[in-house]
Amino acid sequence: MNILFDKATSTFRLDTKSSSYLFQIVKGGYLCHLYWGGHIEDTSMVGISRLYAEAYDPADGDMHERPYPMRFIPQEFACDGITDFRISAVRIEAPDGTTATDFRYQKHEIIAGKMPIDGLPATYAEPDEAMTLKIWMRDTETDMEAILWYTVFEAYDAITRHVTLTNHGEHPTTVKRLYSACTDFAGSDFDILYLYGAWATEANVGRIPVPKSVFTVQSNRGISSHEHNPFLALCAKGADENKGDVYGFSFVYSGSFCAQVEADTQSLTRVIMGFNPDNFSWRLEPGEEISSPEVVMVHSSEGLTNMSQTYHSLYRNQLCRGKWKYQRRPVLINSWEPFLFDFNKEKLLRLARESADVGVELFVLDDGWFGERNSATTSLGDWYVNQEKIGGTLSELANEIRAMGLKFGLWFEPEMISKNSNLYRAHPDWCLHSGGRPRSELRNQLVLDFSRPEVVDYIIDAVSKVLESAPIDYVKWDMNRSLSEVGSTSLPRERQGEVYHRYIIGLYRAMETLTSRFPDILFEGCSGGGGRFDPGILYYMPQFWGSDNTDAMDRLNIHYGETLVYPLSSLSAHVSAVPNLQVNRTTPLSSRFHAALTGSFGYELDICKLTDQEKEQIREQIATYKQYQDLLMNGDYYRLISPFEGNGSAWIVVSKDKREALAGYFKVLSKRWHRRSLRLKGLDDTLRYRQQGTDYRYYGSTLMNAGIPLPKLWGDFLSCLFHLKAE
Ligand code: GLA
Repeated sequence: MNILFDKATSTFRLDTKSSSYLFQIVKGGYLCHLYWGGHIEDTSMVGISRLYAEAYDPADGDMHERPYPMRFIPQEFACDGITDFRISAVRIEAPDGTTATDFRYQKHEIIAGKMPIDGLPATYAEPDEAMTLKIWMRDTETDMEAILWYTVFEAYDAITRHVTLTNHGEHPTTVKRLYSACTDFAGSDFDILYLYGAWATEANVGRIPVPKSVFTVQSNRGISSHEHNPFLALCAKGADENKGDVYGFSFVYSGSFCAQVEADTQSLTRVIMGFNPDNFSWRLEPGEEISSPEVVMVHSSEGLTNMSQTYHSLYRNQLCRGKWKYQRRPVLINSWEPFLFDFNKEKLLRLARESADVGVELFVLDDGWFGERNSATTSLGDWYVNQEKIGGTLSELANEIRAMGLKFGLWFEPEMISKNSNLYRAHPDWCLHSGGRPRSELRNQLVLDFSRPEVVDYIIDAVSKVLESAPIDYVKWDMNRSLSEVGSTSLPRERQGEVYHRYIIGLYRAMETLTSRFPDILFEGCSGGGGRFDPGILYYMPQFWGSDNTDAMDRLNIHYGETLVYPLSSLSAHVSAVPNLQVNRTTPLSSRFHAALTGSFGYELDICKLTDQEKEQIREQIATYKQYQDLLMNGDYYRLISPFEGNGSAWIVVSKDKREALAGYFKVLSKRWHRRSLRLKGLDDTLRYRQQGTDYRYYGSTLMNAGIPLPKLWGDFLSCLFHLKAE
């Protein structure tokens, strides 16, 4: 880890564990990007920065302040309207209404450690774990200052970036666009890897060549979204899981975002990531400032597995917080799929009793316990217990369940309001809305205006009262719709463009307050499944419900995609009933178990309806899971077969000391053709492993080169596990 400044050439060099990132201050005070990739020795790369201006583009006339038309400069902070013509990182509306923006270098500072970003989630580091470079830039016309923040981590090939803008002028300005990171790559011979989907089919892996145009991954829904995860990677041609240069960009934010890749005709490729300009503008009064959320940039010269493992450990160690960060998560049973809204105390206790009997550790009461909530038509916002339905107080129910040896958890959807609720009747203006336009509903619900501090305070208070009223060990924080008709009656006309981001600031304040007020509670994020599965949420809550689709075969795809960025400790996964509620498929109980292993594990079915034999199977599954739990949570994860490329999927998790591993293999449809062996990864060549439960012993080199023999899986939707221990 190091940050160097070479005075002779005005070049910055940022070294991570095994990569280097270089840029230079060039004529005029612009920051010209030189290099990002595997570690290099040179501190100055002046030759490489030589640029050729040949095209038909305006430059700065007689002033000769800029080296070339800005279009020819690979840039770190591209400004708007001053001859760049590609996507700019920043656009500011000056007091006179013009938007040309021209930030130039002023000074810099290199400091140990990493500063928090006020009110926003971000990775953190001790002074000996990271170094930070602060670069001050100034736009003299508006007297705006931009601080570009770069942090380099000691133990990871990761650089984080964000920007702080301050208005030092005498008049208000409006920030119209602010991207947190802008990086120009030489050439355009890359592929873009990204995660796309929809409700109940999240995290599909897309890969396309960089087009001679602009490619966009984005959300304009006010949530990071099921449609696109706030992540993309640029991959050198031919880069795959095992080899090649890969550059990841992951956004630590839970609202609308935009990431774009623009290949221009001069053979440069720009990647930018930050607020979605469609859903963002921010007025800065004199003296005011705004910081953008952080982008985490990871380089790997050994392909995608290495990139993912960097994200996994960085997010687990330097982003997740709190008591549950490394702690074993309890095996849970969730009442949603067993009962939906249709339950009473007797049903709940029966399910709890049967669950405790087979070894479940946490009982989660999902939707339906509050207000008059017996369907999705009512009561969001009315966070008081429906004692008639649950047969007494929440505390009585929780204590009865805890007396069975279980922990007790509860579902909330704090950001929502039903039209049919006491809260809406009392405060019809507390939801997001645009004047008198119809308020669009999903599941009969509207979105509370979290840009208003008094609304957030009310919800913090209401949720706290419930959490104080009973012994609660776990909370599922759900959020079931995108934002529409976004407007707030509390803000003046010129600040309406701020509502999307103010909403997220309010959300983060609520999450920060509640998670620190109740530090022992395990919080799990959810948004109709994976609609807000992003690093921003992981800062507050160490795990997330990845999808409402609990079908084992579909989950193979969803987990495969999610593991590109997120550690197994952050994915929760449940075994549910068949035929599956979302896709009507029937899969064997064993495959459902194997598919759910790559996550924080639990059940979402009515155990009371199972046969004795199935209950026994579940008892064994839970015992088996507990045996593997530490390995799965703490080991290194490798994708072995992509479910997007064929008729199956496989993974392996290897302990840090390489002495233990668990591999899962899944065959989707039955064919006459059978795969005979599975090549493993991550083992030690020279160690001899015993396949547990058998007398077979193989060297790591054999398992990784020849592969482990596979049994014949005869039928649809089958799977098997291999547990290996070094002798
Ligand atoms: C969402 C969640 C589900 C469940 C329901 C309850 O769809 O993703 O897991 O909690 O809400 O209404």
